[in-house]
Amino acid sequence: MCGIVGYIGYRDTNPILIEGLKRLEYRGYDSAGVCILVDGETVIVKDKGKVSHLESLLDAKNVHSTIGIGHTRWATHGEPNFVNAHPHSNEEGDIVLIHNGIIENFNTLKKSLITQGYTFKSDTDTEVLAHLIDVFMKKGNKLFRAVRLALSEVEGTYGLAVISSREPNILIAARKGSPLVIGVGDKENFIASDVSALITHTKQVVYLDDGEVAEITAEGFRVKTVQDEEISKEVTEVFLTLEELDRGGYDTFMLKEIMEQPESVLNSLRGRLLLDEGTSKLGGLENVLDKLVTAKRFILTACGTSWHSGLVAEYMFEQYLRIPTEVEYASEFRYRNPIIEPGDAIFFISQSGETADTLAAMHEAKRKGALCIGICNGVGSSIARDSDSGVYIHAGPEIGVASTKAFTSQLTVFALITLLLARKKDMSLADGKIIVEEFKLLPGKIKKILELRSRIEEIAEVFKDTPNFLYLGRGYNFPVALEGALKLKEISYIHAEGYPAAEMKHGPIALVDKNMPVVFIAPKDSTYDKINSNIQEIKARKGIVIAIATEDDDRIDTIADYSIKIPGTIRMLTPILSVIPLQLLAYFIAKKKGLNVDQPRNLAKSVTVE
Ligand code: M6R
Repeated sequence: MCGIVGYIGYRDTNPILIEGLKRLEYRGYDSAGVCILVDGETVIVKDKGKVSHLESLLDAKNVHSTIGIGHTRWATHGEPNFVNAHPHSNEEGDIVLIHNGIIENFNTLKKSLITQGYTFKSDTDTEVLAHLIDVFMKKGNKLFRAVRLALSEVEGTYGLAVISSREPNILIAARKGSPLVIGVGDKENFIASDVSALITHTKQVVYLDDGEVAEITAEGFRVKTVQDEEISKEVTEVFLTLEELDRGGYDTFMLKEIMEQPESVLNSLRGRLLLDEGTSKLGGLENVLDKLVTAKRFILTACGTSWHSGLVAEYMFEQYLRIPTEVEYASEFRYRNPIIEPGDAIFFISQSGETADTLAAMHEAKRKGALCIGICNGVGSSIARDSDSGVYIHAGPEIGVASTKAFTSQLTVFALITLLLARKKDMSLADGKIIVEEFKLLPGKIKKILELRSRIEEIAEVFKDTPNFLYLGRGYNFPVALEGALKLKEISYIHAEGYPAAEMKHGPIALVDKNMPVVFIAPKDSTYDKINSNIQEIKARKGIVIAIATEDDDRIDTIADYSIKIPGTIRMLTPILSVIPLQLLAYFIAKKKGLNVDQPRNLAKSVTVE
């Protein structure tokens, strides 16, 4: 979604802003812009389109500065065009800002500003902020205070960066519900909405919390709350390398991330398996372990792919822990006044840790006194920091918009949690040891599936022009069917639906004819015979069957049109393997259609608006 970078120091700001914005491109955007201060004047360069286009506009202008802010916009209010692109300014053009988030009361603020004589150029909610700050500066306030006074009138969310030619040596940053981090350098400082935009310059960072505003100079920074309270902030170190952020020789981030799964799953497991005790060790849950073991109910809430991992976890928790578990979309949970009772523990699952709906659902649950557990990939992310306890999935940075390795790492972590709690409850040492052994085999099994790449690519060639797909699975593999369908639709724009296989008879089977490919996730488990009957039902209607089956399953070859064989494992871990061919199938279909798989249309990597 929208991205923010900012710089103040002694170097030419242009390459720093452009590089930072390029690092944020993966989040998805439709326009980009910068503002720098040149000879006491603000210079804004912006347009619809890519950062590379912005870069050439900036080069052509040949202006330079040592202070500037840059933005990538993903439209929420007003279409993507030059006028609506950020930065925005007050009428005189001497207060300039960029903003992520949504100003919910912008209509009320806009009407009031219009009655005070202000005129508006854009359709954005952001522009009101520039005028509002202007109001307070004209009343004699310095920029830092004027921003805080303006923000005290604002309802909604913001990650904000402001500069002004009236005070050319400071950069103001503010955060509420939209991440913002300060990068601390030597005689220079940075801001960004995501550490990936600044780690080439510094690894020392300060995460702003909601309601905080920072005044940043080349020499240092200070932070106050919107209500004027001075805050002392801790500088922390980020452990992320540039190689981790680059494509590592692959065509796309998505393929790199799919291929990385043997290592990313291994990283999720690293140091967490205790073979002798037949259990796992999760430091982040130690302080709440008793509460989890005795919990009366688990609620899992998330969006998109993370929600699918919650659905798989529901099967794990209910099979091994016998704790009633509910899975809910975060966007629904937050608004329906959920019933939260003593003994409930709520898991908030998010790759980015910044998804607005999931974060807001967590704040709502906290208000109601629930125990909140974050399952995140983004280290230091808002969900990770605001939860009571949690587990990092350690999948490494996921850049491709389509979530792949984060999903398998989320499942790995949920299986680790299941083992840990089951061993505290009634699972025997012997059973625990069997599961630990199965965990250890996972990376090797994933490698074997990835070796089937070219076979899956051949299947993709056959189906690249197909307009519709069905994905069917049962039990643990029903959520995998949903995930396979989501992967295909989001990057290939092919309409795809996932269903529990038996549910097909209650409607979707009407769609089946000789042109309809149906992907069955049919490993050899307790539902195998049932799913075989479902395959027969599709074949009887001349549908085309692509089966994801277990290696030693020869029977499936006699009924399916195409089969992809995966190694066997215990039921709980099967989705970690069965989803991988579906990720590859979606990937190759989208590539063969010539689409941008890393940044599919209309999508953002991190959805920080509701
Ligand atoms: O960062 P999160 O896990 O909270 O993101 C949730 C969804 O936005 C995300 O999974 C989305 O559905 C992906 N594009 C799926 O590939």
